[in-house]
Amino acid sequence: MIITKLNLTNFRNYQKLNLELSPNMNIFIGENGVGKTNILEAASVLALTKSYRIGNDMDLIRFTKQKAKIKGSVKKGRTKKDLAIEIMDKQKKVLVNNKQIKRIADYIANLNVVIFTPNDLEIMTGSPSIRRNLLNMELSQISLEYLKISNEYNKLLKTRNEYLKILFTNNIADKTYLDILTEKLVEKAVFIYKMRHLYLEKIGNNIDVIFKNITDSSGVELLYKPNIEIEAYEEDAIRRALRHKFHKYYKKELAYGMTLYGPHRDDFTFSYKGKDMKVYASQGQQKSAVLSYKLATIKIFEEYSGSSPVLLLDDIFSELDLKKKNKLLKFISKDIQSIITTTDLKNISKKALDNVAIFQVSNGNVERCEKK
Ligand SMILES: Nc1ncnc2c1ncn2[C@@H]1O[C@H](COP(=O)(O)OP(=O)(O)OP(=O)(O)O)[C@@H](O)[C@H]1O
Ligand SMILES: [Mg+2]
Repeated sequence: MIITKLNLTNFRNYQKLNLELSPNMNIFIGENGVGKTNILEAASVLALTKSYRIGNDMDLIRFTKQKAKIKGSVKKGRTKKDLAIEIMDKQKKVLVNNKQIKRIADYIANLNVVIFTPNDLEIMTGSPSIRRNLLNMELSQISLEYLKISNEYNKLLKTRNEYLKILFTNNIADKTYLDILTEKLVEKAVFIYKMRHLYLEKIGNNIDVIFKNITDSSGVELLYKPNIEIEAYEEDAIRRALRHKFHKYYKKELAYGMTLYGPHRDDFTFSYKGKDMKVYASQGQQKSAVLSYKLATIKIFEEYSGSSPVLLLDDIFSELDLKKKNKLLKFISKDIQSIITTTDLKNISKKALDNVAIFQVSNGNVERCEKK
């Protein structure tokens, strides 16, 4: 999958920007605050219909303007599509070939992206909810069924939590309705556990090879950590494990007024040579491991959607030593399209920049330049 053209109108600091992108690597260079990340963000909004950055849709609209627009031409094999997103106050429109698409779920598969940003270090160091959000974002891109089921799960979870509170405050002993909700929730949970386990296992199979490519050392592993003990990731075993928890801790759940077990309490960790990377690894090692995670997802995207995602790598070089920068650039396959931002390419080997489109960004303006 490649984005051939990207056009922005009143998006962040761009009044008007028309870009023609290379099908291979695109590097945007410029000083702090000139709008490099904004370009990458625009590509991500085009793919996901919302920004990965904190804030709301309104922040995307250029100050004092009413409407932001992102347009992109996307090629997948021989098929070409024109995607567009219009963001207005309290309203958002998504269009494919100039036709408005009503449901976001029907739009999402048009453009797949894998995003890495400096904040992604939090995938390792931050709270479990960050890792769960990541899994949801990634799995929803590769499986519409996952998107649907995790939405249903969240709705059921809310209903079940509310009902637990009602049972407790009104001192109701009859739990017939709760049991119905529980069973429905368990069925959705089984699917989510299975998908997440399979997904993390696949990434786990690739992450260390990539980490070794970038850092010359190996030993990175991913460990899936649900908050129930699952013997095997088969439907019956998961169902049994979850039912057991709900049965055993019914009173505790009543007292808390919330569902204490299930994929909404999931987590996973990175380990390096058997030790938790969150605690022991250096910043550079953490960054390399998270990057390796992201690069490992590419293969999975290819497997599920039959097409490579577009790689969006924001400020990937900071914190990496020169050797790693060069190795990373070499590793990022030139066969897939990437959009990379950096403040400079100092000391980067000329060979690594072969066949790379380099763009110089100055305030609200972008110029394609000759190789440096
Ligand atoms: N809605 C908006 N309207 C106008 N300008 C905006 C808007 N939102 C952000 N900006 C401007 O965009 C600029 C930041 O752009 P961006 O984050 O892309 O910078 P960058 O080139 O990635 O910098 P760095 O190297 O520090 O990461 C800031 O100058 C900010 O004021
Ligand atoms: Mg930036």
